[in-house]
Amino acid sequence: MKVFHLSVECYPIAKVGGLADVVGALPKYQTKLGVDAAVIMPWYDRPFVKDHSFDVVYEGTFFQGSERLDYSVFKERDNILGFELYLIKIPGKLDRQEVYCYPDEGEQFIAFQHAVLNWFKAKAIVPDIVHCHDHHVGLMPFLMKYSNEYNFLADVKTVATVHNGQYQGWTHWSKAILLPGFDSWKWGLLDWDGLINPLAALIKCCDAYTTVSEGYLEELYADANGLQHLFYDERHKSVGIVNGIDWDIWNPDKDYTLIENYDLASAFAGKLKNKQALAQQYKIDPALPLLVFIGRFATEKGADLLPDIILDLTENFPGRLSIFILGAGDPAIQARVKMLVDKQIENFDVFFGYDENLAHWLYASADFLLMPSRVEPCGLNQLYAMKYGTLPIVHSVGGLKDTVIDLENNGYGVGFDTLEVADIRKAIVRAVEYYENKSKFEDNQHKIMSLDFSWDKSAAKYLNLYNQLI
Ligand code: ADP
Ligand code: GLC
Repeated sequence: MKVFHLSVECYPIAKVGGLADVVGALPKYQTKLGVDAAVIMPWYDRPFVKDHSFDVVYEGTFFQGSERLDYSVFKERDNILGFELYLIKIPGKLDRQEVYCYPDEGEQFIAFQHAVLNWFKAKAIVPDIVHCHDHHVGLMPFLMKYSNEYNFLADVKTVATVHNGQYQGWTHWSKAILLPGFDSWKWGLLDWDGLINPLAALIKCCDAYTTVSEGYLEELYADANGLQHLFYDERHKSVGIVNGIDWDIWNPDKDYTLIENYDLASAFAGKLKNKQALAQQYKIDPALPLLVFIGRFATEKGADLLPDIILDLTENFPGRLSIFILGAGDPAIQARVKMLVDKQIENFDVFFGYDENLAHWLYASADFLLMPSRVEPCGLNQLYAMKYGTLPIVHSVGGLKDTVIDLENNGYGVGFDTLEVADIRKAIVRAVEYYENKSKFEDNQHKIMSLDFSWDKSAAKYLNLYNQLI
């Protein structure tokens, strides 16, 4: 079975968040199941691309409106990721350093999808499944079915995975001219509320759609930034499949970025050594339990609540824990976190920016991971944290609700139901008190490290879905 995953992120080539982790792992685990899985993504001016060997396998041309675009398809030579990787380069459009936030990003995504279709046509590539990740590649199923030039792909099955329904890729109708010509009777499939909405088009035109947890699917039926009725109406072709962990990368026993590797038996001591090393570089006290936040500074992640949570803890629960924040994103949130740094709060430190190795080190050093997310389609942080023996303290929504069962309900984590600062504090206090009972805490640490959030299970579910479609 030939499957092409289309995504603008894929670890380790270009990662902004969990989308990259999923697209960098799922095809590898599918390959292990006998699927011929490949990833197609834009070319980026980034280290991985410069440091590895690629062959140009095709060069072509198409018109985007009146602009002639020349593109090249690069294939990674050595299959080092465990699956075939193709990059599409278009000078001036798909040859940049960052993944998002260019003013012409909508045009970039259209160009990417058009190039893929054009290449498929030129090389008579007809896969069994085209698997589209998020709105950036949301026009594919529509174009495969209804574009004049590429509808030879009309019978190819398409799967959409919604990693985040908040972002939909809204594009003004004046940009329709940039799309490959299509059956104009079908324009309504692209439309939502007077705009081209690639996420809506994806859900309308795909053969099946998945969300990255079952809980999030239920939430989308009720509230999906305007698309809830669509998700609900199309529920007959939906399924929630929780993300997994790439065990080759997230394994405290083998993780080369750690100061000290550890397994189940050596977890408590191993984590302490990592924390002690962290304390030599940052303003935390290794004798205290360590709470970390790792993530994008976005309201979705509840990062805007961090200053109030931390000030509340310093006032109402002083001297009981160290806190470390690793994050970047919204400048307004960043400025508020910076104010905390300026207050010289004890046993509190921050690293502003994106640092993959530091993230690994923090999962290994921390005792608790805080996730006050407003929305969390799946969340990988809590899964990584648990594999590294770190107790998750989470807002019980979406994927967090599905994957973190509270200690009070015979589970292994700590949840809170509202985003009131006092409730979050109570959850943190509960976690710290639990930590102080060392033998119980250690037993639970073994439990969370042994939970099976492997890709093996979830990759098999995707395969099952593909088999149902073809
Ligand atoms: P999302 O994709 O919504 O950001 P996920 O929990 O699915 O959330 O995935 C986030 C991924 O990004 C995890 O691998 C996490 O470790 C990583 N991450 C987030 N922020 C940072 C950062 N500032 N530095 C390093 N890694 C980060
Ligand atoms: C999105 C979601 C996150 C999820 C990730 C990977 O970025 O916000 O919850 O884990 O995609 O599916």
